[in-house]
Amino acid sequence: MITATAPSNIALVKYWGKRNKALNLPLTSSLSLTLRSLWSEATVEESSTGQDEWDIMGDPSKAQRVLAEARGFTKDDRPLRVSIQNHFPSGAGLASSASSMAAFSRALAQFLADGSTPLDEMARWSRLGSGSSVRSLLTGYVLWDAGTEEDGSDCRISQAFTPEHFPLSLVVCVVNDKPKPIGSTAAMERCRDTSPNYQEFHERNGDDLKAALSAIENRDLMALAEVAEANCLAMHDVMHKATPPVNYFMEGTHKSIALTRELRASGVPCFFSIDAGPNVKIFCPPEQHQAVVDACKSITELVDILEDPYKAPSTPA
Ligand code: PMV
Repeated sequence: MITATAPSNIALVKYWGKRNKALNLPLTSSLSLTLRSLWSEATVEESSTGQDEWDIMGDPSKAQRVLAEARGFTKDDRPLRVSIQNHFPSGAGLASSASSMAAFSRALAQFLADGSTPLDEMARWSRLGSGSSVRSLLTGYVLWDAGTEEDGSDCRISQAFTPEHFPLSLVVCVVNDKPKPIGSTAAMERCRDTSPNYQEFHERNGDDLKAALSAIENRDLMALAEVAEANCLAMHDVMHKATPPVNYFMEGTHKSIALTRELRASGVPCFFSIDAGPNVKIFCPPEQHQAVVDACKSITELVDILEDPYKAPSTPA
């Protein structure tokens, strides 16, 4: 029996479109920060019933795609019993497919191939379950390069900066814990087919990546705030202009955005990011973490506030 874990990640420059749906290849590159306290755990063992058994929340189809790729690579067809748990406070309504698919790929790599699987291959399995999950396979600031090869052979992940280079904490304003009205793959397709600024969003990707990487390199929070918020809002603008519109925002989302802007104006360095859901993720330096948490308590629309504080690497005794 093998158990593996992986944390979630939040993109600072977003992935919102595919260049190949079957291989789940992104249209453009993205950049994220891997989290610490919001994580998933996957356990894999041989099934005694002669068929695969799934102990996971919801539909196993994403995990089944990951397993099919892992079996194709390792040529190990033993029936498996798979259990995947999300260690997020229950009912948080946070997208957990990134951490769960990354944890599952790690567990499969150890169970089926004794951990000898190259990172690129593990990322390929994970990508088939959830594109953004590949970024959870590395720590710190992770670049997911879209690549240009038809077969995806140059679609790779790399660590752009360690977490220690520019420590950031995260506070999540949980606005809603209900399932999202439309999943990310269907929403991306609707945007591609109907949104007038889908192409424009992808055209700004190169400049946004450059600006974000330079801001992180220079530990410049205000510069990172500017590009990360603009990139996130541009992605949501693409959604809002689709037909019919894809609108994940709720009252609490708008209030959390306004609060982040007020905090920044009052001298608390912080910025927000929002994915395919209403919850708002607020990044800040570790010293500002408590001030941001306390400020968020004033938003009555929030059903929860989650904390993913920066953790310095433990020094050997
Ligand atoms: O990996 P998916 O299919 O869940 O897509 C996630 C897309 C966003 O979270 C909205 C953006 C991103 O880059 O993580």
